[in-house]
Amino acid sequence: MTQDLEIVLKDGLAAIDKAANLTDLEETEKEYIGRKGKLSEFFKKMGAATPEEKKELGQALNKVKTELEEKVESKRSLLKKAELAEKLEKEWIDVTLPGEKPKYGHVHPLTQVYKDVEQIFGQMGFAVVDGPEVESEYYNFEALNIPETHPARDMQDTFFIDKAADEKHRRLVLRTHTSPNQIRSMETYGAPLRIIVPGRVFRYEATDATHETTFDQVEGLLIDKDISLADLKGIMVEFLSRLFGKDMKVRFRPGYFPFVEPGIELDISCPFCKVNEPCKVCKGQRYIEFMGAGMVHPKVLEYGGIDPNEYQGWAFGFGLTRLAMMKYKIDDIRHLLSGDLRFNKQF
Ligand code: DAH
Repeated sequence: MTQDLEIVLKDGLAAIDKAANLTDLEETEKEYIGRKGKLSEFFKKMGAATPEEKKELGQALNKVKTELEEKVESKRSLLKKAELAEKLEKEWIDVTLPGEKPKYGHVHPLTQVYKDVEQIFGQMGFAVVDGPEVESEYYNFEALNIPETHPARDMQDTFFIDKAADEKHRRLVLRTHTSPNQIRSMETYGAPLRIIVPGRVFRYEATDATHETTFDQVEGLLIDKDISLADLKGIMVEFLSRLFGKDMKVRFRPGYFPFVEPGIELDISCPFCKVNEPCKVCKGQRYIEFMGAGMVHPKVLEYGGIDPNEYQGWAFGFGLTRLAMMKYKIDDIRHLLSGDLRFNKQF
């Protein structure tokens, strides 16, 4: 019996030696010293032995078991070291290499200007309202004092939608300006009123560096008692100075829009001019054309359901796209909606 045991010990030690990896070693361990392993056979046989034999065999068995266990442990730590070394070799990282820059999203310049405009006017007590991009001819033209036959309809080349609204509202169009929301807001909220309407507008136009079929505007409307263009001037100087972060000036020139009387064009002092340095943006003029505005035409107030004998107000409309281009020095309007990430990443 002890002879058999010696064979098991010899074989076991050899097998442990041979184990090429941890899985192999585990198998071998099971085969020899596991619960159903080769050694367990000997333990079972002990039951039938005499007390004398039991003592001897027991000691021999324990010795063999300990020897095998120790061998397994030392082999295990050897294999573990080898595996770790291999892993380190394979997964080696050069920590001195420059890291990969995390990619951040960028706020689109138009979105940024939207936010700025809404925030500044919001702080001055203007509500920010919204309106439909698919508009009716009634709101886009008629209620703004631009009847069908009016030559001013030619001022804005229109996309018509192949679908009629109803008799009063007539055909559907892609709104050519944000002004229809003057009427919509008067209908919804009545007077007094103090709103801006930033939004996307559409014109049937050939595109070039300064023209797009799709661009953004901001409409402003203030209706109350005893309102004059002096209030508009104050509001615009405050708005522009906050937006550009420096003192800005405005000047009025006469202008024509059917929905205001009198109508004006408002120029702003060139935000890019430096003292004694002619500036390319304003071509040395010191002022840049900025927006159309005027006192709301009494007929427009009537269309909106407001009594022009009791209330008056002013309205303005400026190009948000143009403002973004100015603020961020973008020289081609087509970049803005190109969806080209190389453009967005610059802001
Ligand atoms: N809606 C005009 C346009 O798109 C801009 C405009 C001019 C708006 C005068 C106004 C205004 O509210 O009073 O060209």
